[in-house]
Amino acid sequence: MGSTTMVALLTLALLVLGSCGAKVQEEDPQFWRSQARRTLQSVLDRKLNTNVAKNILFFLGDGMGITTFTAARILKGQLQNQTGEETVMTMDTFPNVGLAKTYSVDFQIPDSAATATAYLCGVKTNLNTIGVNAAGRNGICKTQKGNEVTSILKWAKDAGKSVGIVTTTRVQHATPAATYAHSVSRKWYSDADVPESAKREGCTDIASQLIKNTDIDVIIGGGRKYMTPRGTKDPEYPRDFLSRGKRKDGRNLIKEWQILKTGKVARYVWNKSDFDAVDPETTDYLMALFEPGDLRFEEDRNPSMDPSIIETTEKAIRILQKNPKGFFLLVEGGRIDQAHHDGRAYMALHETVAFDNAIAKGLELTREEETLTIVMADHSHPLTFNGFPFRGQSILGKSPLWATDFLPYTTLMYGNGPGYKVVNGKRPDLRNVTTKGKDYVQLSAAPLESTTHSGEDVAVLARGPMAHLLQGIHEQSYVAHAMAYAACVGDDLRHCQEQPMPELDTSLSSAQ
Ligand SMILES: *[C@@H]1O[C@H](CO)[C@@H](O)[C@H](O)[C@H]1NC(C)=O
Ligand SMILES: *[C@@H]1O[C@H](CO)[C@@H](O)[C@H](O)[C@H]1NC(C)=O
Ligand SMILES: *[C@@H]1O[C@H](CO)[C@@H](O)[C@H](O)[C@H]1NC(C)=O
Ligand SMILES: [Zn+2]
Repeated sequence: MGSTTMVALLTLALLVLGSCGAKVQEEDPQFWRSQARRTLQSVLDRKLNTNVAKNILFFLGDGMGITTFTAARILKGQLQNQTGEETVMTMDTFPNVGLAKTYSVDFQIPDSAATATAYLCGVKTNLNTIGVNAAGRNGICKTQKGNEVTSILKWAKDAGKSVGIVTTTRVQHATPAATYAHSVSRKWYSDADVPESAKREGCTDIASQLIKNTDIDVIIGGGRKYMTPRGTKDPEYPRDFLSRGKRKDGRNLIKEWQILKTGKVARYVWNKSDFDAVDPETTDYLMALFEPGDLRFEEDRNPSMDPSIIETTEKAIRILQKNPKGFFLLVEGGRIDQAHHDGRAYMALHETVAFDNAIAKGLELTREEETLTIVMADHSHPLTFNGFPFRGQSILGKSPLWATDFLPYTTLMYGNGPGYKVVNGKRPDLRNVTTKGKDYVQLSAAPLESTTHSGEDVAVLARGPMAHLLQGIHEQSYVAHAMAYAACVGDDLRHCQEQPMPELDTSLSSAQ
């Protein structure tokens, strides 16, 4: 079909159906002009915030590429019965926007281990490796020693701040692991995953490093099975064999952690009722592991057993913010990526909407003058956003145009992944297929069991002290250095030497 035919078809379709999504106010040019004037004024009124960041609130959407970002915005609006495109997500309100280049030292397109080492430890490295520089080789224990690099979580702890990790995956997964562990393999979750030769050479599993390396105040996510001796029954799924403890060394890391924290108020919980009973005012340490492995997708979550990412973010901040020196908190929306790997855009977008709501909770509980809040993705996925759906059409629906094979296609599709299908030499006929369900797998161009990542830049959003440092296009590893500079942690302390901590609290209390 030529582009003229296509435009003609589109025009016809718009004439017939186009008015359904349009809004009368948008036909008035004054609507756009006054909206732009309000935006302009808010940008003109913006003042550079050069304070020292007392707190760093770091939100990481795993696999939350820009297509996911836009599509989730539309979904968020549509869930509130809006057309969706015009919706302003919490993420959209961040005044400083940059892009990060995500490639790893060895691959054009990275994984979550190499990227987490970049934006948390400030050093680019190789695929599959955590908390080691690029001289460390994937899976080769001998290359680990001497090549360890530490993270901003450790720098913040060393500077006297409280620190925490919140994730929707297992807490030993690549992203959170890069805050505390050094491992030439991201897969060494428990000692049962570490080859005997690597153990002999002195390499240890990620779960054991969780309780040994940095003293982390708040640990929330999944991953119970890597913490207990092999065969230990899971408290929630006692009959499920796969949920049982994995450790060959017989250690119970949950019990060891409780003993290590003797004398402090340290709570271990594995379900929502115990979690709700944790009083942040009196709790020093919290370890909450809600599943044997990763948490469930938000849309599959049992709200009586597991809290949402909004609730876990709130609890973490309330515990950490008791420290007068401030805190560093990583909050990971970790399953956006996993839904994309399954080719399930519905799940990926709903995970992203929940993540955006967690960010809103974070902003509500902190103050912009003293808290540097960053939102970014580690890498993207080959999700495409195809033309030309009408305004307000479901983001999970189909294009009103058909392709040259006279078959419809969905607005969202994948470049590769499990959705590849050929029926009688043609693409499957979607005319009678509901594409909006949570189990629907979008079509992909090349067959793969798991959709890969993709290599375009990811967005970096920032607000609060020194947030303007994140503007521009930078290497992903720069992010750790910018955060550290803003908060005066790590080894570059010029910012607090030039400018003492603003006496925010004093001025506030004297004003009261
Ligand atoms: C959106 O509309 C549906 C169907 O009319 C309704 O059930 C739902 O409560 C509405 N949701 C919101 C957020 O208004
Ligand atoms: C939550 O965990 C506690 C501690 O193990 C247990 O006593 C309680 O029964 C659990 N609650 C549910 C609903 O399983
Ligand atoms: C779609 O469903 C309609 C009504 O049930 C049926 O007549 C039609 O043949 C179906 N089309 C395809 C392509 O399956
Ligand atoms: Zn991934």
